[in-house]
Parts: sequence; C-alpha cells; structure tokens
Amino acid sequence: MCESPLIVKTVRDVRECVAKARADGRSVGLVPTMGALHAGHVSLIEASKQDGCYTVVSIYVNPTQFAPTEDLATYPRTLEEDVQKCRAAGVELIFAPDNSEMYPPGDQTRVCPGPLADKLCGAFRPGHFEGVCTVVAKLLQIVQPDTAYFGQKDAQQAVIIRRMVEDLRMPVWIEVCSLVRDADGLALSSRNARLRPEDRARALSLYQALCAGRKLLATGEPSMGRVIAAMRAVIAAHPEVRVDYLSLVDPETLEDVQKPHGRVMIAGAIRVGDVRLIDNMIVDLPVK
Ligand code: PAF
Repeated sequence: MCESPLIVKTVRDVRECVAKARADGRSVGLVPTMGALHAGHVSLIEASKQDGCYTVVSIYVNPTQFAPTEDLATYPRTLEEDVQKCRAAGVELIFAPDNSEMYPPGDQTRVCPGPLADKLCGAFRPGHFEGVCTVVAKLLQIVQPDTAYFGQKDAQQAVIIRRMVEDLRMPVWIEVCSLVRDADGLALSSRNARLRPEDRARALSLYQALCAGRKLLATGEPSMGRVIAAMRAVIAAHPEVRVDYLSLVDPETLEDVQKPHGRVMIAGAIRVGDVRLIDNMIVDLPVK
C-alpha cells in the first residue's frame, strides 16, 4: 500500500496509476497547477473529491506560457509544502514532470488558440495562451480525466480552455470553480507570495477598483467610460501601481460591453513592482 499522494514524474507512471484507478471503477479528476498551492487550488481539489474522483494534481511551471521578460525564474516553487497540502486534501496522485517529459527532444507542436486569446491579458502577454493551451492539451492527453478543474480567477484562461476542448472535441468536462479571496478581498494567487509587505495595500487596490465598478453598475450608471474612469481613480491613489487593463466584458465572448445589461464581467490586471496580478467579478444586471 503506497502512501498518498503518490508522486510521479513520467507520463508512463501517470497512465499506469490512472489505468488502475479506472480498473477500480473510479472516475478521474485533474487539477492542473503550477504549484505554490493556496486555498484556491485546494477548493479545486475539494471539488474533484466531492465529485468522487480519483484526484490527480499536476504541478508544473510551464515555460512556454512565460515570455522571456516575465517571471518564470522567480515564480514561487514550493513542492514540499504543496505535497503536504495535497496530502491533507486527499489527493491520490501528483504529477510533477520535468521539462523534458512535457516537451520531449525535438518538440515543436503548439496549440494555437483563436481571437479570444488576443483580448484582455492576451493583449499584454502575447503567446501566453498558446503556451497555456499547449500544456493543458498535453496534460489532458496524458491524464485523460473525466473532469478538469480550473479557477474563475483566471477567467479568460477558463473561457479559452473550454473553447479549445470544444473545438478539438476533447472528451473532458471543464469545471470552473469560484474565485477564492483572502479576508481583505485580495484574490488568492501564487504570485501574492512575491508581494512585499508594503505592496499589499497596492495590490488590494485592484479588488477595490472592481468593487467600485460593481457598485456604480448597480446604481444603473449607463456609461461604461464613467465606470472605468471610477475604477482607474481608485487605483490612481497608488501611483506605484501600473494598470494593464480595466475592462467590462461579456463573460463568455470577452467582447467589450457597450451598454450594461445582463451578465457583465469586470476584469482587471495590474502590476505592483514586477508582480502582475489579475482579478474579476461577474455582475448580473437587469436584462434590457
Ligand atoms: O492556471 C495555471 O496555473 C496554469 O495556467 C495552468 C492551467 C496550470 C497551465 O500551466
């Protein structure tokens, strides 16, 4: 009897473990992560466990989703703590491959998403979602789960992955779980670990801006320009913070909203020092 979770590094070992679980009649859930696990990841694991799945967590900092100027080298890596969190949450299998397992010698194939990947974060991180789609397609192909669990914090990622799975006719259900926040409202992110103590209030300005936007929309403010200006004003109180974007979009098409009605996603990305943070909220307005 092996201690849970089993930690494997090769595609072959994952397939063997998953095949055994399937032979035992289990359905399989995959939680893809880049490690530095927090309560948001744990909520994805819990969703998989609640669905009764044999739960596989992948821990892999995927180089192809980082531009050369981005934080691949400094992205937090905390494998030991991650294993403990997985154990406490009842994960059966951790897949922690190295680069040569995910991108074998001679590798050159990429999964290229469509225009959904050019909007919001995609406009500031060219190639990012191609890297995400490529690694997620590989992980889905390796693990072949019934369900894969993603967080709503990465709302654009979730929309693009759902599109990819539909377009490539992949036999997997994509479950998108609620965003998890700290007590003060900051959206949980592995990158929060890189914030200096003095950056916390700066980082929080994104959440506060989204709240201000939500409040204004709820009063019936008809001008998207005024809502965005009000959000920008909240962040402007922190001159050290740079805004990549603050946008009001349709949560499924990610198209800019012209007139506020129905479901609207307020989404934003900021940079605090060299830490890039994203957040979003969905508001349900009266349908006009
Ligand atoms: O959301 C993430 O942590 C990553 O983008 C993912 C889905 C694990 C792919 O590397």
